Amino acid sequence: MRDGQPNPVTRLADYQPPAFLVPDTRLDVDLRDGETRVTAHLKLERNPARADRPDELVLDGDHLDLRSVVLDGRELAPGDDYRLEGPRLIIPGVPEAFSLTTEVRIEPEKNTALEGLYRSNGMYCTQCEAEGFRRITFFPDRPDVLSRFTTTIHADKGAYPLLLSNGNPVDAGDEADGRHFATWEDPFPKPCYLFALVAGDLACLADTFTTASGRDVALRLYAEHRDLDKLDHAMDSLKRSMAWDEKVFGREYDLDIFQIVAVSHFNMGAMENKGLNIFNTSCVLAHPATTTDAGFERVESVVAHEYFHNWSGNRVTCRDWFQLSLKEGFTVFRDQEFSSDMNSRAVVRVENVDFLVNHQFPEDQGPMAHPVRPAEYQKIDNFYTLTVYEKGAEIVRMQSQLLGAEDFRRATDLYFERFDGQAVTCDDFVACMEQVSGLDLAQFKRWYAQAGTPVLTVEDEYVDGEYRLTFEQHTPPTPGQPDKAPLMVPVKLALLDGEGRALPLDDQGRKETVVILREARETRAFPVPARPTPSLLRGFSAPVSLRYDFDERQLNTLLAHDSDGFCRWDAAQRLYFAALARVVDGGETPADQVARLTPVIEQVIARADEDPAQAALLLTLPTENAVGDRHTPLHPQRVHAAVSGLRATLGEALADAWWRLAEGLRESDYQGDGAAMGRRRLRQVALGYLAAAAGAGQVDPEPLVAHLSDTLAAPTCMTEELGALRALVHNRLPGHDAALKAFGERWKDEPLVMDQWFGVQATVPGADTVDRAEALLAHPAFEWTLPNRVRAVIATLVNANPSAFHAPDGSGYRLFARALKKLDGINPQIAARLANGGARLKRLEPGLAQQLGDALRDLRPGASANLAEVLDRILD
Ligand code: PHE
Ligand code: ZN
Repeated sequence: MRDGQPNPVTRLADYQPPAFLVPDTRLDVDLRDGETRVTAHLKLERNPARADRPDELVLDGDHLDLRSVVLDGRELAPGDDYRLEGPRLIIPGVPEAFSLTTEVRIEPEKNTALEGLYRSNGMYCTQCEAEGFRRITFFPDRPDVLSRFTTTIHADKGAYPLLLSNGNPVDAGDEADGRHFATWEDPFPKPCYLFALVAGDLACLADTFTTASGRDVALRLYAEHRDLDKLDHAMDSLKRSMAWDEKVFGREYDLDIFQIVAVSHFNMGAMENKGLNIFNTSCVLAHPATTTDAGFERVESVVAHEYFHNWSGNRVTCRDWFQLSLKEGFTVFRDQEFSSDMNSRAVVRVENVDFLVNHQFPEDQGPMAHPVRPAEYQKIDNFYTLTVYEKGAEIVRMQSQLLGAEDFRRATDLYFERFDGQAVTCDDFVACMEQVSGLDLAQFKRWYAQAGTPVLTVEDEYVDGEYRLTFEQHTPPTPGQPDKAPLMVPVKLALLDGEGRALPLDDQGRKETVVILREARETRAFPVPARPTPSLLRGFSAPVSLRYDFDERQLNTLLAHDSDGFCRWDAAQRLYFAALARVVDGGETPADQVARLTPVIEQVIARADEDPAQAALLLTLPTENAVGDRHTPLHPQRVHAAVSGLRATLGEALADAWWRLAEGLRESDYQGDGAAMGRRRLRQVALGYLAAAAGAGQVDPEPLVAHLSDTLAAPTCMTEELGALRALVHNRLPGHDAALKAFGERWKDEPLVMDQWFGVQATVPGADTVDRAEALLAHPAFEWTLPNRVRAVIATLVNANPSAFHAPDGSGYRLFARALKKLDGINPQIAARLANGGARLKRLEPGLAQQLGDALRDLRPGASANLAEVLDRILD
């Protein structure tokens, strides 16, 4: 709502092919501080697919200062020959085919929205997805207009020795006044959202990769000079990604050069621009001294993700932005499979499911719920969501499971071959699955169109030697979608006997089966000798919320014996949720839970060396948000007391076991392999329990403080160093202030480590952290224009620190609202994304809901279109 006006809405149902195509684009970008000029030479022709033959050319533009328009060599006059309508350039009465040259001035120095061309730490760079190209030049800025780009960049040679764009370098040379130029040619037609340009003084790590067909590809990773030592892991990940995509999907790289540039100021994780990926430094730089193990994993998966887009997104792209999940869901699926092959498949699956269930499910159950293929949007930037990415990946995963590995590969081969060089839809993707397999996926496609997390309720009975499972599916209403139809739901299951052994389910002796549900209610029967424990939704075979009334004995059986990693983890989570529910709602104390939980935990610890990473996952309590989402209305302080109380109590009750783990897993030298990472992870979990008990005064803090101080004095790596700092600070253990100070001093020149330093402080539990966050916002190292820093303080406070954000006096909400207002004037995309932190408003107990609502309502007048869309949804 800009000045009270509602935003315009874009609808999938209104899709029309573009009126004009742009077979060829020549850009000339003259970079000069304060007076950058972009000249675009476009070859245009009428699109034969548009039967109505419009003869008015409409080009998108935004923040452009138009200097001249030349059509087929003739300079056009403003008013008579063309007009500017809002941000658009309109030229009536254009011929069938013509050339158009426009010249604009732009101001990258003033661009804090970080869309289009902007500056970051002395370099120039671009971000065009989704609609940023229109901030560089006038163009039909939509993904179904594919053009062949040639780009020439001019800049001062001293300040910007490196000039990069998409494709292959074809020309370069010196110019007058100490300037120089470079020309890049991209032979592959692409939508303008994949355009990129970089100019700067950067360090380079170079390598080569030889493709399966024997072509040599130059690999170049660029970063600021001081970060050159942090590029090895990304390079290694890139080479493994290239080899993996050849082997698993038959996809080879297609240009002579592949480049990645690390940029400090970036709205998202990274961007797959053709041949010139641009990355948030946080997703590409990695060094054991400065980067945690989680950071290393993230770099590996994001490098893979962006590389895989070269086929799933670039060679085959999206017809319109409603199809975003066509490239994102598929590419997330591909990067998850890559990570599974590079690491432990069971652990990666649980991590991915954990993320989906604890972040995407809440989105799908709140005011922002939308289908994986939305039917309408106000600002497309607001639809780069967990639903489009993570639920989209689950939809691709279900198709891969329904088809089986061989047919799925044949279907993706068909997809890439049939649609190479085209802009297509999710329907086109599913059609390939259907054609190869002969399956009818018409009902399955409802997964793309229906929002909301389906609830799958399972009931069972054992009669006459038959075990009967009755499945009932129901998808609750979501905004704009009151009624839902039944989905096709694949439920993988096994049945365990009293000893936890899987029973044969048919005469072939198979011990696992997939039930494919199609109706709202269905029953399946299995002849087994006695009433079994059902192992349901194995591997998380469908993104549904499973309701089955497991008893404690069944959960213990699953946790102890199930061969499925997801089901084991899910059983542990259910035990923890049940214990916490007894505390939050049932009037019991954390101490009342000890007798029931310690045998379970001891058993996991006893087997921990089989797979320390998996043990770490099994021993991790649900987050306060996850617990809070199971209680209505939400009382964040009550939930906080329960979760932190249980952690401290388990820390005390099992202190000896945690100490044995913490000591036994302590490393003397850093190792970077997966096994060592798993050990560090488990050690951190053990330290977390001990620190909670020490912080609550339930055990003597002294030995732990000594241990953590030792670690901080000579850490083997950042995982250890940050883990020790967090344990001290979050539990306010003796010496925490001095440790923070020393850490901040030691790492003051490493922005990514300082983000962690800010983040640790913003996540100290307790309402007084709001004051602390205020102080952090006033810290000299805090920068409103640096999204990573903003996320480190504000997003972590809002999304990962419920006991502070929901401070009873409303101070957390007021800080939130003030931050949103400030950010909206700087970077509307970041403001809107952050505003999603208010999405639990309607679930809050009335006193808090009132305060949060008041704080957010004040922001509506004058909000950007991005922010307004989110606020309107949250507030109704
Ligand atoms: N397309 C990017 C990715 O998923 C994400 C992105 C979207 C980055 C929009 C910048 C802007 O890899
Ligand atoms: Zn992506």
